[in-house]
Amino acid sequence: MKHFISVNDLKPKEVLEVLEMADHYRRNNFKLNQQMFAANLFFEPSTRTKMSFIVAQRKLGIEPLDFHTETSSMKKGESLYDTAKTFEAIGADLLVVRHEEDEWPREICNSLSIPIVNGGAGKKEHPTQSMLDLNTIYQEFGRLDNLNIVIVGDIKHSRVARSNAHTLNRMGANVYLCAAPDFIDETLEFPYITMDEAVEMCDALMLLRIQHERHERFSNVLNYHNEFGLTKEREKRMKKSAIILHPAPINRGVEIDSDLVECERSRIFKQMSNGVYTRMAIMTKLLSERGKNCENYFEKHQTLAVAK
Ligand code: CP
Repeated sequence: MKHFISVNDLKPKEVLEVLEMADHYRRNNFKLNQQMFAANLFFEPSTRTKMSFIVAQRKLGIEPLDFHTETSSMKKGESLYDTAKTFEAIGADLLVVRHEEDEWPREICNSLSIPIVNGGAGKKEHPTQSMLDLNTIYQEFGRLDNLNIVIVGDIKHSRVARSNAHTLNRMGANVYLCAAPDFIDETLEFPYITMDEAVEMCDALMLLRIQHERHERFSNVLNYHNEFGLTKEREKRMKKSAIILHPAPINRGVEIDSDLVECERSRIFKQMSNGVYTRMAIMTKLLSERGKNCENYFEKHQTLAVAK
C-alpha cells in the first residue's frame, strides 16, 4: 500500500492487521528510531481527525509540521499539488490531507514519493474514520462478521457512510441503511430499513450527523428527531449488547437525544480514543512499506493477538 486513500486499499487480512497493531499501540509505548516529519494539510474544518493525527504522530516520535491554510502560500494562489510537492521537497515523510473535493487524491498521489493519508475527501471517503469505527466494533465483539450494523442519517452527503458500508460489507458484516428520503443514496446497494426496525435488530447503530454544510440547512429538526433520531424510548428497545457509534461532531437532540451521547452503550468517545491508535497503526504500516522504519515494526508485530 503506497497511500491510504480508500478503505479498498486494504485487503480484509490487512484490515485485521491494522486493528491488531492499533491494539498493540494502545497497550505499549513505541517510538520510531529515526527523525521524521509529517504535514497535516487540512482544508476543511476538523477537530478529531487533525488532533488525533497530531497526537498519534507525537506518540510515534514523528514531528508534525505546523500548517494553516490562511497563513500559507495557498493564500497567494499556490495549488494543492505544489503545496504537497513543497512539503515533500523540504523533508516531510508523510502527508495527511483533508479537502472538500472528492477527487483531490488523483491530483497528487501519482506524483509524490511519500505516503499520503486521506483525512477526508469531500463526500467520497473517510478511510481512517472507518478503520477506527471498525476498531471500536472489533474491540466490543471480537469479530466483524455476522454482525448487524445499521448506518443511520445523512447517508447521501456522508463520506463516513460510504467508507463504512463498503468496508464492513467486505469484512462480512450485515450492513443496513436508514435515512430520510432526502438523505438516501441510490448508489449504495444496501437495504434501507426504518429506525424502529434498526434499533431492534442492530448490534451496532452508527448514527451520522446531518451535513448542514453540504446542502441547504435542514429546518425540521424536531420531526427528524422523532422519525430518524435515537430517542430515549428507542434506545430502550435495543439489544442489551448493542452499541451506539457516531463519528462526531454530534447534533445533540437531532440524530441522538443529548442524554444518550454518554449513556452506557455509547462508544462515541471511545471511538475518538481509538482514532489515535488506529492512525498510529496506519502511519506505521505506510512508513514500513516505504522502508522508512528500519525495524519494520509493523511486519514484526503483525501476528499479535488482539486482547478481547
Ligand atoms: N469525525 C471527524 O472526522 O471529525 P472532525 O471533522 O472533527 O475531524
